[in-house]
Amino acid sequence: MNICVIGAGHVGLVTAACFSDLGHRVVCVDQDRPKVQSLRKGKVWFYEPGLERLVERNLRKRRLSFTERIGDGVRHCEVIFIAVGTPPLASGDADLSSVEQVVREVARLAKGYRLIVEKSTVPVETGKRILQTLQMWPKGKTQFDVASNPEFLREGSAVEDFLHPERIVVGVQSKRARALLEELYRPFKAPWVVTDIASAELIKHASNAFLATKVSFINAISVLCDRVGADVEKVALGMGLDSRIGPSFLKAGLGYGGFCFPKDLEAFVRIAEKLGYDFQLLKATRQINEDQKRILVEKVLHHLWNLKGKRIALLGLAFKPDTDDMRFAPSLDIVSALIQGGAQVHAYDPRSMKAARRILGNKVRFSKDPYSASKGADCLVVITEWAEFRELDFKRIKRLMRQPILVDGRNLYRPEVMRRLGFRYVGMGRGRGE
Ligand SMILES: NC(=O)c1ccc[n+]([C@@H]2O[C@H](COP(=O)([O-])OP(=O)(O)OC[C@H]3O[C@@H](n4cnc5c(N)ncnc54)[C@H](O)[C@@H]3O)[C@@H](O)[C@H]2O)c1
Repeated sequence: MNICVIGAGHVGLVTAACFSDLGHRVVCVDQDRPKVQSLRKGKVWFYEPGLERLVERNLRKRRLSFTERIGDGVRHCEVIFIAVGTPPLASGDADLSSVEQVVREVARLAKGYRLIVEKSTVPVETGKRILQTLQMWPKGKTQFDVASNPEFLREGSAVEDFLHPERIVVGVQSKRARALLEELYRPFKAPWVVTDIASAELIKHASNAFLATKVSFINAISVLCDRVGADVEKVALGMGLDSRIGPSFLKAGLGYGGFCFPKDLEAFVRIAEKLGYDFQLLKATRQINEDQKRILVEKVLHHLWNLKGKRIALLGLAFKPDTDDMRFAPSLDIVSALIQGGAQVHAYDPRSMKAARRILGNKVRFSKDPYSASKGADCLVVITEWAEFRELDFKRIKRLMRQPILVDGRNLYRPEVMRRLGFRYVGMGRGRGE
């Protein structure tokens, strides 16, 4: 099939690369010229395991191409995926201006039948808006279908998630659209959920909101654990073995971040508001998530007495491991609070220091490894659970630090092991560490 994917970001580029690897001819469009230029050379502008190899291979086989001109894709491709960003506005609503702009262009440039597929996460009823816009702007004789095909991939395992999804959700309103998407997804062995467009749009928002709520639930339990000296890791283990609950997303720590959960939750609260429903559960989810960052800073303060003049080593900056994405990373608020208190922050992250430097500038000193970050530190704070942080030489770190205080924002280590090594260990929901 000839497929056009508009937006060469974390979702669009993975979609384009994976469909081309399955043998389709894919034109990937992005308005950002430097991105397109580097993608043409096989260079991916963000870190995602396995993606660059996939892009290179399919460029070589001439099944994948990149362009800034939307017409290059729209003229020849029957199926057009929209995967542009939908960032939050100040109000919390999703900014759909890029989606609208793309849809207008598609309407103007397309000839013949076109299936427009929402891959971006959009508020319920966006499909209706897209269809209205498509009917308003066409030049020639064109017939349009709209479908919703929400994406559930996770950054850090995006290629694997895309190629082996747990389900494929498709919201359609015509047999032709359904048949085209069935054809496209034929090689995938995953349950197929076919709905109307509004239900598919809601599935995405509801799924993300539910997972975020699960994270906040265990974080609320972790606050209680701290107060009574219980261990949230054991509580989560005991809960998660119940198959009705399950162990995933039951990890206490600094809460969720990244480009999806915070903005999608916010947008969902706003969508509900506009529909006349006060989604209090999600407001509490959001508040608990915000509180976790403050709680971590309070723990650091509690153990250091004063922040002024103290040196703090941060391990990890990205919102989660295996990505260099810094969008809505909890580290940003934590760094601000520590600096505001007068501390000096030395940070290390295996992948995201370049992206972090663009945001934090010289507010933070960036270290070449965890050991140089720890040198002379009064407190070591774990922000991201990168696998390499599990393997550190803590005897060496203890020798390098000024005071051996370890605040583990992700409960990465066993408290008794760290205490045996001579650290004052403070986790999230594992007592106050005294
Ligand atoms: N990142 C994730 O893990 C994830 C997962 C599932 C769904 N989503 C959703 O997918 C959508 C895209 O997210 P992302 O993380 O890929 O964003 P991104 O910022 O990584 O990529 C978006 C791309 O779209 C391009 N773009 C913006 N406006 C454009 C226009 N008018 N024409 C052409 N290109 C344009 C940008 O230059 C950018 O390269 C969002 O709605 C997001 O919520 C993201």
